Amino acid sequence: MSNDGVNEGRRRVLTALTSVVGAAGVVGAAVPFVNSWNPSAKARAAGAPVEFNVSKIEPGARVTVEWRGKPVYIVRRTKEALESLNTVEARLRDPASEKSVQPDYAKNPTRSVKEEFLVMLAICTHLGCAPEYRPEVGDQSVGDSNWLGGFFCKCHGSKFDLAGRVFAGVPAPTNLEIPPYTFLSDDVILIGEDQEA
Ligand code: FES
Repeated sequence: MSNDGVNEGRRRVLTALTSVVGAAGVVGAAVPFVNSWNPSAKARAAGAPVEFNVSKIEPGARVTVEWRGKPVYIVRRTKEALESLNTVEARLRDPASEKSVQPDYAKNPTRSVKEEFLVMLAICTHLGCAPEYRPEVGDQSVGDSNWLGGFFCKCHGSKFDLAGRVFAGVPAPTNLEIPPYTFLSDDVILIGEDQEA
């Protein structure tokens, strides 16, 4: 839904509420008005941080966690995957993530808090499709003879490395976004809450 749609919807609700106030009087309408603007428990839960135990993820595997209705990939990178990040740098559009969205603590060569774990929104920065995880070196279907593993968006062919950094010459303008997150313990991650400084 576009913002216009949301604003239009809000406008309609406000117009309806104003009519109720006008018809029933200010005092009578005050309670329903307040109730209707208190976020429900469900709405609060929808925006809440999400916990996940990363020890369940095998090396090289990826899981998808939902946070605020958005898919978040968590990938447990192997030693080879981490080495590939250096190899591909010259082919990337924004290797140092200068123009990309990530918390300051993830603005580093692996774009992560712990280099083994990549935590990233699975939403293409071109038009919002879900890029697929393609970890196999030389995966023919990506159409890149030097493919070292990464993410491939089939919608219009954008390619990203194993840190979610976009390759040059594809439609996506920036690296995939890194959400705020923190480790509550060695194994448990909390997505949606910033790391303490
Ligand atoms: S939406 Fe991913 S390349 Fe267009």
